[in-house]
Amino acid sequence: MKLLTYLMFVLLMHQSFSSSRPQCHSCEPTSCDCSRQNLSDVPAAPSKLITELDLSFNMLKTIGNSDFDGYASLRSLIMSNNKISTIHEQAFVKLATLEKLDLSFNRLGNLSAGWFKNLYSLQHLNLLGNTYTVLGQGNLFEPLKRLKSLFFGGPNFQNLRKSDFSGLSHLEEVVFDGPNLEDYGEGSLRQIGPIQFVTLSLYFPPQMLPFHVVSESGTRRIAFKNMIMTFAACLALINQLSDSNITMFTLEDITLFLSFEFFFPTRLNIQHLEEAVFKNIDIPQFYTFPAPNFLEPLLKVVRRVSIVNCKMFAIPCESSVLFSQMEYLDLSENYLTDLALSKMMCDGKGALQSLHTLNVSRNHLMVINSRLFNKLEKLENIDMSGNTFDSTPESCYWPPSLQFLNLSSSRLTKVTACLPVSLRILDLSHNALTVFNIELPFLTDLYISGNKLHCLPDGGFYPHLAVLSIQNNDLHTLSRDILNGYDNLKSLEASSDTYVCSCDFVAFMTSDPTNHRVTIGDEFKSYICDSPDAERGESVGDVRLSVFECHTALAFSLLCLAIVAVILLIAGLCFKFNVLWYLKMTWTWLRAKRKPKLKKGELEFDAFVSYSEMDSGWVDAHLIPELEQAEPHLRLCLHKRDFIPGGWILDNIMDAIERSHRTLFVISKHFVMSEWCKYELDYTHFRLFDHNEDTVVLILLEPIDKDSIPKKFCKLRRVMNSRTYLEWPDDDNQIPRFWQSLRTAIMRPETDDTNF
Ligand SMILES: *[C@@H]1O[C@H](CO)[C@@H](O)[C@H](O)[C@H]1NC(C)=O
Ligand SMILES: *[C@@H]1O[C@H](CO)[C@@H](O)[C@H](O)[C@H]1NC(C)=O
Ligand SMILES: *[C@@H]1O[C@H](CO)[C@@H](O)[C@H](O)[C@H]1NC(C)=O
Ligand SMILES: *[C@@H]1O[C@H](CO)[C@@H](O)[C@H](O)[C@H]1NC(C)=O
Ligand SMILES: *[C@@H]1O[C@H](CO)[C@@H](O)[C@H](O)[C@H]1NC(C)=O
Repeated sequence: MKLLTYLMFVLLMHQSFSSSRPQCHSCEPTSCDCSRQNLSDVPAAPSKLITELDLSFNMLKTIGNSDFDGYASLRSLIMSNNKISTIHEQAFVKLATLEKLDLSFNRLGNLSAGWFKNLYSLQHLNLLGNTYTVLGQGNLFEPLKRLKSLFFGGPNFQNLRKSDFSGLSHLEEVVFDGPNLEDYGEGSLRQIGPIQFVTLSLYFPPQMLPFHVVSESGTRRIAFKNMIMTFAACLALINQLSDSNITMFTLEDITLFLSFEFFFPTRLNIQHLEEAVFKNIDIPQFYTFPAPNFLEPLLKVVRRVSIVNCKMFAIPCESSVLFSQMEYLDLSENYLTDLALSKMMCDGKGALQSLHTLNVSRNHLMVINSRLFNKLEKLENIDMSGNTFDSTPESCYWPPSLQFLNLSSSRLTKVTACLPVSLRILDLSHNALTVFNIELPFLTDLYISGNKLHCLPDGGFYPHLAVLSIQNNDLHTLSRDILNGYDNLKSLEASSDTYVCSCDFVAFMTSDPTNHRVTIGDEFKSYICDSPDAERGESVGDVRLSVFECHTALAFSLLCLAIVAVILLIAGLCFKFNVLWYLKMTWTWLRAKRKPKLKKGELEFDAFVSYSEMDSGWVDAHLIPELEQAEPHLRLCLHKRDFIPGGWILDNIMDAIERSHRTLFVISKHFVMSEWCKYELDYTHFRLFDHNEDTVVLILLEPIDKDSIPKKFCKLRRVMNSRTYLEWPDDDNQIPRFWQSLRTAIMRPETDDTNF
């Protein structure tokens, strides 16, 4: 019992514990991106297979010892930009496969060796931007035998000791942020051995020392970032490159102040240096700054130079003629004008002879002056994007080696045959071109997105084109035929155009992609219909066009056929069910209904006699003599005699019924078949068949089986059922009695009154 209670307790505790852990809602099978979800606790592991967990930009403060239970497969754990100040000694103990741990930009005031004890696989560790002043008690990184990159330091970091790096032997990259470093234990960095890439962020001088050590310890690439320094310090730094094995030197995000007591390096031995990068260097008094001839000794030897976003406005010809080794020159995002570029190229007379790639993107150029590059026999790539050219000259003189030209975002409204015929890759995106039809026989890649083209360029001009990017234009359609115009096209990116979602277009786009030679390279769902209106804004893949829109002729033929069929069917049904007959009757009935009713006294006849022509013998021989000639005379209405010639027979009948006291039907088989149809309908209006008014008198000349009466004559059937009728007797003795009954049925009371 006790045990059970205990178990329950444990279970409950476990339940409440795990339910208090938040869930991360953006997990893939093996990775969770729980960044920016306001988490204050580490979420529970959705599965044991998670290898990547991103918890950056949350509200974590404390990491407990069981927070990573269930994350045993984790390789990458990112917890940057939280508020972590405490991490339990055992927190990472189960993460033996962890390769990357990012704890940057938290509030760690102390670093503990316990955290790293079990992280045998760790290769990348980022501890930047915390508040610790020293790297723990020493030997912090001893267990991290595989560590390749180490980022450490922060605003409060003061002290680098020799023991801090003991045990680290595979380090390739170090980023050290030590703007307030006070004490540097000599040789600390040197004992690590050669580091490929070191980035140091320090205020200069007085902390030049670590760099000196690094440069002597065999590091190949070194970067200085986030610093404020004087021009003199910068030169001193370059001086330090002398005699080192450094191949790449970077200054990035630096504010450089002018100081006038600088000296040029006298002897600079930097034959190992291959690449110099100056990026985002802010020189507040740049306009008083001497042209970069102070860098001449450096630029003379290097093969690759980037001076990006440094407010540079001139390199005089006297300097650039010295840069004969330079193969790659990136001067993007500076203040170069046409004149400055012309000066730098010595007006095209042959400076920068080895140049392979020139990047002058995002400067202040306004004219494409190809003559400047004409003598550069090795020039293959020119990036002139982001300038303001408006149009290209009618003819140009490019070096025949040119293969890559970037003229994107240059406000071009027109391009001419100025484009070099030798081009392999051309970028004309984000201009205002409405046509593009320049023949470029070797072109393989054309980027022309963000223009105003209405149709794809003529494939015949570009026999080698393999990649075409033409998004955000005014294209209306694509089809297999158009694409087959290109002999070698493999990949097409054409989304966000103004497509007319016709049937052919939709069918082409939604057909099996494996049937096309050309693959759609961009996101299929951003192919959006611009018209027809009903489909505007819809993705081509979601459009469902009706058969009418897609097979108009066929659909209309089918519709017409269907209509004809229905008409025939209706006609057939009318014929079968005597609809025309009913209609005719309704018409008559309606007309009769509008006629004023006759008063009793106006009745002209005693009886209207309706009979079939076949029975006229009986009527002539028996009925007329007996009723009209015998006393008292009855006045009969006979159609032969009393109908107005020429009038419609039905009108006559109605009229006769109206004007007669009784209606006499002489019923025989002939009558039913030939005559009755004239009367069948709702005749209540004529006082016929009315239960109260006995206006109808039926004389049955021969016995009739009621079932033989056609179904449509439902009235007759009913009348025969509900009413007694006079039967013409076979027995002659019965005949007087028959006449007597008939007279009684016909006689009008008033007539009786007047007659007697
Ligand atoms: C996190 O909290 C902030 C302010 O409390 C709020 O603006 C933001 O929308 C929240 N973000 C999430 C993902 O809940
Ligand atoms: C860091 O460690 C020192 C000495 O071990 C201790 O005095 C201090 O309180 C610790 N600071 C924090 C924030 O834990
Ligand atoms: C530069 O490299 C060479 C050969 O790899 C080596 O002998 C020399 O000691 C290195 N120099 C420095 C300063 O590390
Ligand atoms: C030229 O510089 C721009 C901006 O820095 C960059 O985007 C572009 O890729 C560079 N071009 C080449 C050919 O390297
Ligand atoms: C052309 O330059 C623009 C802007 O610098 C850049 O984004 C683009 O990638 C370049 N094009 C190619 C094909 O490299």
